[in-house]
Amino acid sequence: MPIHKVGVVGCGLMGSGIAHVVAQSGFEVVVREVTPELLDKGLKSIEKSLQRMVEKGSLTDVERDHTRSRLKGTTGLNDLKDADLIIEAIIEQLPDKKALYMELDKLCPKTTIFASNTSSLSITEMATFTGRPDRFVGLHFFNPVPIMKLVEVIRTIATDPAVYAEVVEFSTRLGKTPVRTSDRTGFIVNRLLVPYLLDAIRALEEGVGSIEDIDNSMKLGCGHPMGPLTLLDFVGLDTTYYIANIMFEEYREKRYAPPPLLRKMVQAGFFGKKSGRGFYDYSGPEPKVADLGL
Ligand SMILES: NC(=O)c1ccc[n+]([C@@H]2O[C@H](COP(=O)([O-])OP(=O)(O)OC[C@H]3O[C@@H](n4cnc5c(N)ncnc54)[C@H](O)[C@@H]3O)[C@@H](O)[C@H]2O)c1
Repeated sequence: MPIHKVGVVGCGLMGSGIAHVVAQSGFEVVVREVTPELLDKGLKSIEKSLQRMVEKGSLTDVERDHTRSRLKGTTGLNDLKDADLIIEAIIEQLPDKKALYMELDKLCPKTTIFASNTSSLSITEMATFTGRPDRFVGLHFFNPVPIMKLVEVIRTIATDPAVYAEVVEFSTRLGKTPVRTSDRTGFIVNRLLVPYLLDAIRALEEGVGSIEDIDNSMKLGCGHPMGPLTLLDFVGLDTTYYIANIMFEEYREKRYAPPPLLRKMVQAGFFGKKSGRGFYDYSGPEPKVADLGL
């Protein structure tokens, strides 16, 4: 069955970007958040991102208006029941995802495909919360979704090959480059990226360099577009902390263990850019290096 209508669950950092890109690519989209306030925040960030594209000349006024007209927000899960594909991008907590999938499974016809944007949880395990493991895949986008070209498409041992092929094809219709990968925690990108980010925090903890020096080293010495501590602020320190814990639990390797400084920053509510404070302070017009008392 071809994909026409797409449901997106969660309109945070990733869900808002996914809803934007899917609507811009010509699909009908319904995006669900838990409260009207969070929905409003997510829809406003989509509006801002569309406006930025118009100002830069990468989207016309007409394309922006068409994108808007294909995109609806809701707080009711019921509005997603006739979607052909549901992309889940809620917080990285298995109990929340489990409750959601069990509800969605009751609500949606057997033909609906479920795709999780999880960074580190097991797609196979989530598929077992539903009666459709053959129609369950991982669809892992990157932040910011409208800009980053990659999407990892994850197949489990239970995924129907025809469903997998359909989701790969859907990803190319979004203008993304899909890579095929299997259900191993962290997939390809986070398996390589997470130990690098955690090592940057350990280097800071051990006094190897300052926040600025660590970031500048990787930017100017390795040609990375941003340093690891800036990247952590963009990804979200809370999200990175959840991911690191899940990867450590899975592999029991020291390189995935979250460093104490990361845990303390998350406990203090320093989640990075989205909370206004992480390794940098975002309260002024320009980010400033944060005083972490190190
Ligand atoms: N942050 C990243 O760079 C990144 C990259 C790729 C994948 N991911 C994955 O994407 C998912 C979302 O991450 P994020 O960074 O967007 O987090 P986020 O905290 O910015 O957004 C999550 C949103 O989900 C909402 N939510 C929670 N339960 C819900 C429910 N039952 N129904 C609808 N909405 C619900 C929350 O209110 C919140 O707004 C996670 O699984 C994460 O691992 C994150």
